[in-house]
Amino acid sequence: MQFIDSIKSLFGPAPSISAPKARIAPACEYVIRPLTKRHLREVTLLNAVCFPNGDSYTRHTLDYLLSQPTTLSYRIVTEENETVGFAFVMVNESGTAHLTTIGIAPEHRRRGLAKRLLLHVENALRVRQINTLVLEVRVKNTAAQELYRQKGFYVVQRLNKYYTNGEDCFLMMKAVH
Ligand SMILES: CC(C)(COP(=O)(O)OP(=O)(O)OC[C@H]1O[C@@H](n2cnc3c(N)ncnc32)[C@H](O)[C@@H]1OP(=O)(O)O)[C@@H](O)C(=O)NCCC(=O)NCCS
Repeated sequence: MQFIDSIKSLFGPAPSISAPKARIAPACEYVIRPLTKRHLREVTLLNAVCFPNGDSYTRHTLDYLLSQPTTLSYRIVTEENETVGFAFVMVNESGTAHLTTIGIAPEHRRRGLAKRLLLHVENALRVRQINTLVLEVRVKNTAAQELYRQKGFYVVQRLNKYYTNGEDCFLMMKAVH
């Protein structure tokens, strides 16, 4: 739990932005690429769009994450090289990985992109012989919980008042074989 507390203390609330308009992007092909500091600006904007209610990380926090050798970060891009999804994972000293954040642009959702990103993350962990992936998810975020359940995560604990607004989260875990 100490690891989770230390992660939590890194991230202050970011300014919230208004909710994006619902729109569906034209069908296209996607690929997964490494996410580096070169993409900091676009990933900061996308993060704010994906988390419009104050859960988005600041540019400073994302910059910090991208500076850490223990961070694995990926983006999902369209044929036009537009970033429409991202995932950040931090690996701790005991060999456990923590899914710090994942988001898909609203107009590209329900196309299996988050599932693809998670599969990519798991493959990257396997190569590094890291066999546990943990995450926290808001109790109210049933869409994300459904995604994680589908990908084999299970709830190990409910953490009371985990978020600054007093909301609880579920700590979820998956063994990566
Ligand atoms: C959660 C999120 C990452 C899912 O991305 P996505 O690319 O749309 O997810 P996928 O298309 O891979 O969906 C996989 C499964 O997750 C579940 N799921 C995804 N979105 C859902 C929704 N809105 N309602 C219910 N189930 C949902 C479904 O079981 C889905 O499978 P199905 O489409 O075959 O039914 C995306 O909605 C998002 O960015 N949300 C805002 C940020 C966020 O909450 N991140 C997680 C923080 S813990």
